[in-house]
Amino acid sequence: MSGGIIARPTTAIPEDEVQRYTFAERAYHWINAIAYTYLMLTGLAIFTPLAYWLAYVLGGPATIRYWHPWIGLIYLATIFWMHRMWKRDMQKIPEDERWSKNIRAYAENRDELMPPQGRFNAGQKQFWWVMLYCTFILLITGIIMWIPEKMPRELHWVLPITVFIHSATALITIAAFIIHVYMSVWVTPGSVKAMVEGHVSTNWARTHHRLWYEKITGRRN
Ligand code: HEM
Repeated sequence: MSGGIIARPTTAIPEDEVQRYTFAERAYHWINAIAYTYLMLTGLAIFTPLAYWLAYVLGGPATIRYWHPWIGLIYLATIFWMHRMWKRDMQKIPEDERWSKNIRAYAENRDELMPPQGRFNAGQKQFWWVMLYCTFILLITGIIMWIPEKMPRELHWVLPITVFIHSATALITIAAFIIHVYMSVWVTPGSVKAMVEGHVSTNWARTHHRLWYEKITGRRN
């Protein structure tokens, strides 16, 4: 083994860094992110004439109508895997409430004002639960819209309501998604490296997720 590199089962971690995401976590996350981006763009194309041009960019209206629900199943499978991997880290801890009250300081990058956080901070947890619950609603409404011809005639009144709930829920996830990408790509330098390479500097871990850092390293500073 060459200088400073510690071999771990899934990722080689340079010295003075800690593993944040395993290969499986990163793989599921990025497959999910690609699937979600496709769903968002094709969904918007179907939803509003303003975005209909996207349908032609992505292969044509009939093509996106065919693939949207199938890619939805890939998104669904990966989000459930992510949930299996992260559900314990997404549980509320007492510090979360204080974190949420100080959210302004977080947005302004004044980390010294924030209470110590576990593997995920309270905002990341909120994002996760919004995405997960919305996914359930999108699944149920999406299946009804996928095969409307299978629905008994006397239940056809449900369809416009279903379309409304599906679209409104999708818009909520789009807002959450934009915040997630903005926070992780622009506001917290080092996060993209974490999700691409799997490891972060000990300094990053200590600054952003102190309780998690103390737990995985056993250190207090
Ligand atoms: C192009 C789209 C996306 C980008 C660029 C992106 C980027 C990232 C990055 C950089 C991280 C690491 C954050 C950290 O550890 O501090 C992360 C974590 C995470 N991502 Fe994404 N992501 C995307 C899409 C998604 C989608 C669609 C979901 C869920 C449906 C998702 C769920 C998560 C979760 C739960 C985490 C861990 C906690 C958190 O940071 O919020 N991501 N993402």
